[in-house]
Amino acid sequence: MNSTGSNNAAEAFERLHGVAPTGVWSAPGRVNLIGEHTDYNDGFVLPFAIPQRTWVAAAPREDGVLTLASGSAAVPPLRLADLEPGSPRDWTAYPAGVAWVLRQQGITGGADLVITGDVPHGSGLSSSHSLEVATALALLGLAETEASTGDVAKWVQQAENDFVGAPTGLLDQTASLCCTEAHVLFLDVRTGRQEQVPFDASRHGLEVLVIDTRVSHELVGSGYAERRAGCEEAARLRNVPAVRDLDTEAGLPERLRPLVRHVITENERVLKTVALLREDRYEEIGPLLSASHASLRDDYRVSCAELDVAAQAAEDAGALGARMIGGGFGGSAIALVPAGIRPDVERCVAEAFARHGFAAPRMFTAIPAAGAGRDR
Ligand code: GLA
Repeated sequence: MNSTGSNNAAEAFERLHGVAPTGVWSAPGRVNLIGEHTDYNDGFVLPFAIPQRTWVAAAPREDGVLTLASGSAAVPPLRLADLEPGSPRDWTAYPAGVAWVLRQQGITGGADLVITGDVPHGSGLSSSHSLEVATALALLGLAETEASTGDVAKWVQQAENDFVGAPTGLLDQTASLCCTEAHVLFLDVRTGRQEQVPFDASRHGLEVLVIDTRVSHELVGSGYAERRAGCEEAARLRNVPAVRDLDTEAGLPERLRPLVRHVITENERVLKTVALLREDRYEEIGPLLSASHASLRDDYRVSCAELDVAAQAAEDAGALGARMIGGGFGGSAIALVPAGIRPDVERCVAEAFARHGFAAPRMFTAIPAAGAGRDR
Protein backbone atom coordinates (compact mmCIF):
# COMPACT_ATOMS: atom_id res chain seq x y z
CA MET A 1 0.00 0.00 0.00
CA ASN A 2 1.11 3.54 -0.70
CA SER A 3 1.20 5.08 2.79
CA THR A 4 1.91 8.59 1.45
CA GLY A 5 -1.36 8.54 -0.49
CA SER A 6 -3.38 7.38 2.48
CA ASN A 7 -1.65 9.86 4.82
CA ASN A 8 -2.44 12.68 2.40
CA ALA A 9 -6.10 11.67 2.33
CA ALA A 10 -6.22 11.47 6.14
CA GLU A 11 -4.55 14.87 6.47
CA ALA A 12 -6.93 16.44 3.94
CA PHE A 13 -9.82 15.00 5.97
CA GLU A 14 -8.47 16.39 9.20
CA ARG A 15 -7.91 19.84 7.68
CA LEU A 16 -11.49 19.95 6.46
CA HIS A 17 -13.33 18.32 9.38
CA GLY A 18 -11.04 19.06 12.30
CA VAL A 19 -10.85 15.40 13.35
CA ALA A 20 -9.10 12.30 12.05
CA PRO A 21 -11.12 10.05 9.72
CA THR A 22 -12.40 6.71 10.98
CA GLY A 23 -10.47 5.03 8.19
CA VAL A 24 -8.93 5.38 4.73
CA TRP A 25 -9.80 3.03 1.88
CA SER A 26 -8.21 3.02 -1.57
CA ALA A 27 -8.67 1.44 -4.97
CA PRO A 28 -6.40 1.41 -8.05
CA GLY A 29 -6.98 2.23 -11.69
CA ARG A 30 -6.31 -0.52 -14.20
CA VAL A 31 -4.70 -1.42 -17.48
CA ASN A 32 -6.35 -4.20 -19.47
CA LEU A 33 -3.59 -6.23 -21.09
CA ILE A 34 -6.10 -7.74 -23.53
CA GLY A 35 -9.81 -8.61 -23.74
CA GLU A 36 -11.61 -5.41 -24.75
CA HIS A 37 -15.39 -5.10 -25.12
CA THR A 38 -15.66 -8.74 -24.10
CA ASP A 39 -16.87 -8.22 -20.52
CA TYR A 40 -20.51 -7.39 -21.33
CA ASN A 41 -20.48 -10.26 -23.83
CA ASP A 42 -19.85 -12.74 -20.98
CA GLY A 43 -16.27 -13.21 -22.21
CA PHE A 44 -12.68 -13.10 -20.95
CA VAL A 45 -10.55 -10.18 -19.74
CA LEU A 46 -6.95 -9.89 -18.50
CA PRO A 47 -6.42 -6.66 -16.54
CA PHE A 48 -3.87 -5.60 -13.97
CA ALA A 49 -4.05 -2.84 -11.35
CA ILE A 50 -1.78 0.16 -11.78
CA PRO A 51 0.01 1.93 -8.91
CA GLN A 52 -2.14 5.06 -9.34
CA ARG A 53 -5.06 4.99 -6.88
CA THR A 54 -8.00 6.88 -5.44
CA TRP A 55 -8.09 7.29 -1.65
CA VAL A 56 -11.24 7.90 0.37
CA ALA A 57 -10.83 9.09 3.96
CA ALA A 58 -14.15 8.62 5.70
CA ALA A 59 -16.11 9.04 8.90
CA PRO A 60 -19.76 8.19 9.62
CA ARG A 61 -22.55 10.74 10.16
CA GLU A 62 -25.81 10.22 12.00
CA ASP A 63 -27.98 12.51 9.86
CA GLY A 64 -28.30 10.63 6.54
CA VAL A 65 -26.17 13.24 4.77
CA LEU A 66 -23.26 12.53 2.43
CA THR A 67 -20.56 15.18 2.26
CA LEU A 68 -17.95 14.95 -0.47
CA ALA A 69 -14.73 16.82 -0.97
CA SER A 70 -12.08 16.40 -3.62
CA GLY A 71 -8.96 17.24 -1.61
CA SER A 72 -9.82 20.54 0.03
CA ALA A 73 -12.67 21.42 -2.34
CA ALA A 74 -15.98 20.52 -0.69
CA VAL A 75 -19.24 20.38 -2.65
CA PRO A 76 -22.71 21.06 -1.18
CA PRO A 77 -23.89 18.17 1.07
CA LEU A 78 -26.25 15.57 -0.41
CA ARG A 79 -29.17 14.02 1.48
CA LEU A 80 -29.03 10.26 0.86
CA ALA A 81 -32.82 10.01 0.80
CA ASP A 82 -32.99 12.62 -2.00
CA LEU A 83 -30.50 10.95 -4.34
CA GLU A 84 -31.94 10.09 -7.71
CA PRO A 85 -30.36 8.87 -10.95
CA GLY A 86 -29.38 11.80 -13.16
CA SER A 87 -28.58 14.23 -10.32
CA PRO A 88 -25.82 15.13 -9.62
CA ARG A 89 -24.17 14.98 -13.05
CA ASP A 90 -20.55 15.93 -12.30
CA TRP A 91 -17.84 13.72 -10.71
CA THR A 92 -19.90 13.47 -7.53
CA ALA A 93 -22.34 11.21 -9.42
CA TYR A 94 -19.85 8.34 -8.93
CA PRO A 95 -19.67 8.34 -5.12
CA ALA A 96 -23.32 9.45 -4.89
CA GLY A 97 -24.35 6.57 -7.16
CA VAL A 98 -22.54 4.09 -4.95
CA ALA A 99 -24.23 5.52 -1.84
CA TRP A 100 -27.58 5.29 -3.66
CA VAL A 101 -27.05 1.59 -4.48
CA LEU A 102 -25.76 0.73 -1.00
CA ARG A 103 -28.78 2.44 0.54
CA GLN A 104 -30.91 -0.16 -1.24
CA GLN A 105 -28.71 -2.76 0.46
CA GLY A 106 -29.54 -1.31 3.88
CA ILE A 107 -26.46 0.91 4.28
CA THR A 108 -28.39 4.04 5.20
CA GLY A 109 -25.98 5.98 7.43
CA GLY A 110 -24.48 9.23 6.16
CA ALA A 111 -20.77 9.84 5.78
CA ASP A 112 -18.11 12.48 5.31
CA LEU A 113 -15.82 11.45 2.45
CA VAL A 114 -12.62 13.23 1.45
CA ILE A 115 -11.19 12.02 -1.83
CA THR A 116 -7.65 12.26 -3.14
CA GLY A 117 -5.93 10.36 -5.89
CA ASP A 118 -3.54 10.21 -8.79
CA VAL A 119 -5.36 8.16 -11.44
CA PRO A 120 -5.47 10.48 -14.48
CA HIS A 121 -9.08 11.38 -15.32
CA GLY A 122 -10.69 10.50 -18.64
CA SER A 123 -7.63 8.54 -19.69
CA GLY A 124 -9.24 5.10 -19.97
CA LEU A 125 -7.42 3.95 -16.83
CA SER A 126 -10.61 3.62 -14.77
CA SER A 127 -10.32 6.66 -12.53
CA SER A 128 -14.10 6.66 -12.07
CA HIS A 129 -14.24 3.00 -11.14
CA SER A 130 -11.39 3.40 -8.67
CA LEU A 131 -13.39 6.22 -7.05
CA GLU A 132 -16.54 4.09 -6.97
CA VAL A 133 -14.77 1.05 -5.55
CA ALA A 134 -12.96 3.05 -2.85
CA THR A 135 -16.26 4.73 -1.95
CA ALA A 136 -18.08 1.39 -1.74
CA LEU A 137 -15.41 -0.09 0.52
CA ALA A 138 -15.42 3.04 2.71
CA LEU A 139 -19.22 3.05 3.14
CA LEU A 140 -19.29 -0.70 3.82
CA GLY A 141 -16.36 -0.33 6.22
CA LEU A 142 -18.03 2.50 8.14
CA ALA A 143 -21.15 0.33 8.43
CA GLU A 144 -18.98 -2.61 9.53
CA THR A 145 -20.63 -4.69 6.81
CA GLU A 146 -18.74 -7.50 5.10
CA ALA A 147 -19.42 -8.13 1.41
CA SER A 148 -17.88 -10.38 -1.23
CA THR A 149 -15.86 -8.76 -4.02
CA GLY A 150 -18.44 -10.19 -6.43
CA ASP A 151 -21.25 -8.30 -4.69
CA VAL A 152 -19.26 -5.07 -4.46
CA ALA A 153 -18.44 -5.33 -8.18
CA LYS A 154 -22.14 -5.77 -9.03
CA TRP A 155 -23.20 -2.84 -6.82
CA VAL A 156 -20.61 -0.61 -8.46
CA GLN A 157 -21.87 -1.73 -11.86
CA GLN A 158 -25.41 -0.86 -10.78
CA ALA A 159 -24.22 2.62 -9.72
CA GLU A 160 -22.58 3.11 -13.14
CA ASN A 161 -25.48 1.69 -15.16
CA ASP A 162 -28.49 2.97 -13.26
CA PHE A 163 -27.28 6.16 -11.54
CA VAL A 164 -24.47 7.56 -13.70
CA GLY A 165 -26.07 6.20 -16.88
CA ALA A 166 -23.04 4.46 -18.42
CA PRO A 167 -23.90 0.91 -19.56
CA THR A 168 -20.46 -0.49 -18.64
CA GLY A 169 -19.58 -4.09 -17.78
CA LEU A 170 -17.70 -5.72 -14.90
CA LEU A 171 -14.09 -5.37 -16.09
CA ASP A 172 -12.97 -2.22 -14.34
CA GLN A 173 -14.39 -2.63 -10.86
CA THR A 174 -13.44 -6.32 -10.70
CA ALA A 175 -9.89 -5.39 -11.71
CA SER A 176 -9.76 -2.65 -9.09
CA LEU A 177 -11.10 -4.98 -6.40
CA CYS A 178 -9.36 -8.24 -7.19
CA CYS A 179 -6.02 -7.59 -8.90
CA THR A 180 -2.83 -8.39 -7.00
CA GLU A 181 0.75 -7.18 -7.28
CA ALA A 182 2.88 -8.81 -10.01
CA HIS A 183 -0.12 -10.57 -11.63
CA VAL A 184 -2.69 -10.13 -14.34
CA LEU A 185 -6.20 -11.21 -13.45
CA PHE A 186 -7.63 -13.79 -15.84
CA LEU A 187 -11.37 -13.36 -15.39
CA ASP A 188 -14.15 -15.34 -17.01
CA VAL A 189 -16.93 -12.79 -16.68
CA ARG A 190 -19.72 -15.34 -17.23
CA THR A 191 -18.74 -17.70 -14.45
CA GLY A 192 -16.85 -15.21 -12.29
CA ARG A 193 -13.92 -17.64 -12.26
CA GLN A 194 -10.66 -15.85 -11.54
CA GLU A 195 -7.02 -16.83 -11.86
CA GLN A 196 -4.06 -14.70 -10.84
CA VAL A 197 -1.50 -15.23 -13.62
CA PRO A 198 2.06 -14.12 -12.75
CA PHE A 199 3.07 -11.17 -14.93
CA ASP A 200 6.61 -9.85 -14.66
CA ALA A 201 7.50 -8.17 -17.94
CA SER A 202 10.76 -6.79 -16.52
CA ARG A 203 12.11 -10.32 -16.01
CA HIS A 204 11.86 -10.62 -19.80
CA GLY A 205 13.50 -7.24 -20.41
CA LEU A 206 10.11 -5.76 -21.32
CA GLU A 207 7.91 -2.93 -20.13
CA VAL A 208 4.25 -2.13 -20.59
CA LEU A 209 4.29 1.50 -21.68
CA VAL A 210 1.03 3.37 -21.17
CA ILE A 211 0.40 6.14 -23.71
CA ASP A 212 -2.34 8.45 -22.46
CA THR A 213 -3.52 10.35 -25.54
CA ARG A 214 -5.19 12.97 -23.32
CA VAL A 215 -8.21 12.81 -25.58
CA SER A 216 -11.02 12.49 -23.10
CA HIS A 217 -13.46 9.71 -23.62
CA GLU A 218 -17.05 9.73 -22.49
CA LEU A 219 -18.90 6.46 -21.97
CA VAL A 220 -22.22 8.14 -21.26
CA GLY A 221 -23.84 8.89 -24.59
CA SER A 222 -20.96 7.59 -26.72
CA GLY A 223 -20.84 4.77 -29.22
CA TYR A 224 -20.27 2.39 -26.28
CA ALA A 225 -24.00 1.82 -25.71
CA GLU A 226 -24.54 1.34 -29.43
CA ARG A 227 -21.84 -1.37 -29.62
CA ARG A 228 -23.27 -3.09 -26.60
CA ALA A 229 -26.80 -3.02 -28.03
CA GLY A 230 -25.48 -4.45 -31.33
CA CYS A 231 -23.92 -7.38 -29.51
CA GLU A 232 -27.08 -8.04 -27.53
CA GLU A 233 -29.12 -7.96 -30.72
CA ALA A 234 -26.75 -10.46 -32.36
CA ALA A 235 -27.08 -12.83 -29.40
CA ARG A 236 -30.87 -12.52 -29.52
CA LEU A 237 -30.99 -13.18 -33.26
CA ARG A 238 -28.88 -16.31 -32.84
CA ASN A 239 -30.81 -17.36 -29.78
CA VAL A 240 -27.87 -17.58 -27.40
CA PRO A 241 -27.42 -15.84 -24.02
CA ALA A 242 -24.40 -13.78 -25.19
CA VAL A 243 -21.98 -13.33 -28.09
CA ARG A 244 -19.58 -15.43 -25.98
CA ASP A 245 -21.60 -18.44 -27.18
CA LEU A 246 -21.09 -17.79 -30.90
CA ASP A 247 -18.21 -19.18 -32.94
CA THR A 248 -19.02 -17.43 -36.21
CA GLU A 249 -20.56 -14.17 -37.34
CA ALA A 250 -22.01 -15.89 -40.42
CA GLY A 251 -25.73 -15.60 -40.92
CA LEU A 252 -26.04 -12.31 -39.03
CA PRO A 253 -27.04 -9.01 -40.64
CA GLU A 254 -24.08 -7.28 -42.31
CA ARG A 255 -24.00 -4.41 -39.78
CA LEU A 256 -23.61 -6.78 -36.80
CA ARG A 257 -20.98 -9.12 -38.27
CA PRO A 258 -17.86 -7.04 -37.53
CA LEU A 259 -18.95 -6.55 -33.91
CA VAL A 260 -19.38 -10.26 -33.38
CA ARG A 261 -16.15 -11.04 -35.23
CA HIS A 262 -14.28 -8.75 -32.86
CA VAL A 263 -15.71 -10.39 -29.75
CA ILE A 264 -15.05 -13.93 -31.00
CA THR A 265 -11.46 -13.19 -32.03
CA GLU A 266 -10.74 -11.08 -28.93
CA ASN A 267 -11.84 -13.87 -26.60
CA GLU A 268 -9.49 -16.20 -28.50
CA ARG A 269 -6.66 -13.68 -28.13
CA VAL A 270 -7.15 -13.54 -24.36
CA LEU A 271 -6.93 -17.33 -24.10
CA LYS A 272 -3.80 -17.36 -26.29
CA THR A 273 -2.21 -14.60 -24.21
CA VAL A 274 -2.83 -16.50 -20.98
CA ALA A 275 -1.33 -19.66 -22.51
CA LEU A 276 1.77 -17.73 -23.63
CA LEU A 277 2.21 -16.11 -20.21
CA ARG A 278 1.97 -19.50 -18.51
CA GLU A 279 4.78 -20.71 -20.78
CA ASP A 280 6.87 -17.57 -20.21
CA ARG A 281 6.68 -16.69 -23.93
CA TYR A 282 6.21 -12.96 -23.35
CA GLU A 283 7.58 -11.69 -26.68
CA GLU A 284 4.92 -13.62 -28.57
CA ILE A 285 2.16 -11.61 -26.91
CA GLY A 286 3.09 -8.56 -29.00
CA PRO A 287 1.33 -9.62 -32.21
CA LEU A 288 -1.82 -10.47 -30.23
CA LEU A 289 -1.90 -6.94 -28.80
CA SER A 290 -1.55 -5.49 -32.29
CA ALA A 291 -4.24 -7.78 -33.67
CA SER A 292 -6.52 -6.66 -30.84
CA HIS A 293 -5.96 -3.03 -31.83
CA ALA A 294 -6.68 -3.72 -35.49
CA SER A 295 -9.87 -5.53 -34.55
CA LEU A 296 -11.02 -2.70 -32.25
CA ARG A 297 -10.19 -0.16 -34.96
CA ASP A 298 -11.60 -1.93 -38.03
CA ASP A 299 -14.30 -4.28 -36.73
CA TYR A 300 -15.50 -2.75 -33.47
CA ARG A 301 -14.72 0.81 -34.61
CA VAL A 302 -14.03 2.28 -31.17
CA SER A 303 -10.53 3.64 -31.84
CA CYS A 304 -9.70 7.21 -32.86
CA ALA A 305 -6.89 8.97 -34.72
CA GLU A 306 -4.81 9.60 -31.58
CA LEU A 307 -4.99 5.96 -30.46
CA ASP A 308 -4.10 4.73 -33.95
CA VAL A 309 -1.11 7.07 -34.15
CA ALA A 310 0.03 6.00 -30.66
CA ALA A 311 -0.11 2.28 -31.51
CA GLN A 312 1.47 2.70 -34.95
CA ALA A 313 4.29 5.00 -33.79
CA ALA A 314 5.14 2.66 -30.90
CA GLU A 315 5.36 -0.29 -33.28
CA ASP A 316 7.38 1.68 -35.82
CA ALA A 317 9.87 2.46 -33.04
CA GLY A 318 10.27 -1.21 -32.11
CA ALA A 319 7.43 -2.07 -29.72
CA LEU A 320 6.53 -5.78 -29.97
CA GLY A 321 2.85 -4.87 -30.08
CA ALA A 322 0.50 -2.06 -29.13
CA ARG A 323 -3.22 -1.53 -28.63
CA MET A 324 -5.84 0.85 -27.37
CA ILE A 325 -7.30 -0.08 -23.99
CA GLY A 326 -10.65 0.54 -22.29
CA GLY A 327 -13.85 1.71 -23.90
CA GLY A 328 -12.12 3.64 -26.69
CA PHE A 329 -12.89 6.94 -28.45
CA GLY A 330 -9.81 8.35 -26.69
CA GLY A 331 -8.06 7.42 -23.49
CA SER A 332 -4.92 5.31 -23.46
CA ALA A 333 -2.99 2.78 -25.50
CA ILE A 334 -0.39 0.33 -24.24
CA ALA A 335 2.76 -0.88 -25.95
CA LEU A 336 4.89 -3.90 -25.06
CA VAL A 337 8.38 -2.47 -25.30
CA PRO A 338 11.91 -3.87 -24.86
CA ALA A 339 13.15 -1.90 -21.82
CA GLY A 340 16.31 -0.70 -23.61
CA ILE A 341 14.39 1.15 -26.32
CA ARG A 342 11.64 2.64 -24.16
CA PRO A 343 13.09 6.18 -24.44
CA ASP A 344 13.19 5.83 -28.26
CA VAL A 345 9.60 4.61 -28.34
CA GLU A 346 8.50 7.50 -26.15
CA ARG A 347 10.33 9.96 -28.38
CA CYS A 348 8.85 8.53 -31.58
CA VAL A 349 5.32 8.59 -30.16
CA ALA A 350 5.77 12.19 -28.96
CA GLU A 351 7.14 13.20 -32.38
CA ALA A 352 4.29 11.48 -34.22
CA PHE A 353 1.76 13.30 -32.02
CA ALA A 354 3.47 16.64 -32.70
CA ARG A 355 3.51 15.89 -36.47
CA HIS A 356 -0.23 15.27 -36.40
CA GLY A 357 -0.87 18.42 -34.39
CA PHE A 358 -2.10 16.42 -31.35
CA ALA A 359 -1.46 17.58 -27.78
CA ALA A 360 1.56 15.89 -26.18
CA PRO A 361 0.68 12.45 -24.77
CA ARG A 362 1.53 11.42 -21.21
CA MET A 363 3.57 8.20 -20.96
CA PHE A 364 4.58 5.94 -18.09
CA THR A 365 5.54 2.33 -17.47
CA ALA A 366 2.77 0.36 -15.73
CA ILE A 367 3.73 -2.31 -13.21
CA PRO A 368 1.00 -4.58 -11.75
CA ALA A 369 0.05 -3.24 -8.33
CA ALA A 370 -2.23 -4.25 -5.46
CA GLY A 371 -6.01 -4.15 -5.59
CA ALA A 372 -8.41 -2.21 -3.40
CA GLY A 373 -8.54 -2.37 0.38
CA ARG A 374 -8.50 -0.58 3.70
CA ASP A 375 -5.25 1.36 4.20
CA ARG A 376 -5.70 2.46 7.81
C1 GLA B 1 -14.94 0.39 -20.29
C2 GLA B 1 -16.01 -0.30 -19.45
C3 GLA B 1 -15.69 -1.78 -19.25
C4 GLA B 1 -15.33 -2.47 -20.56
C5 GLA B 1 -14.33 -1.65 -21.36
C6 GLA B 1 -14.08 -2.22 -22.73
O1 GLA B 1 -13.73 0.45 -19.59
O2 GLA B 1 -16.14 0.32 -18.20
O3 GLA B 1 -16.77 -2.42 -18.62
O4 GLA B 1 -16.49 -2.73 -21.32
O5 GLA B 1 -14.74 -0.30 -21.51
O6 GLA B 1 -13.44 -3.45 -22.63
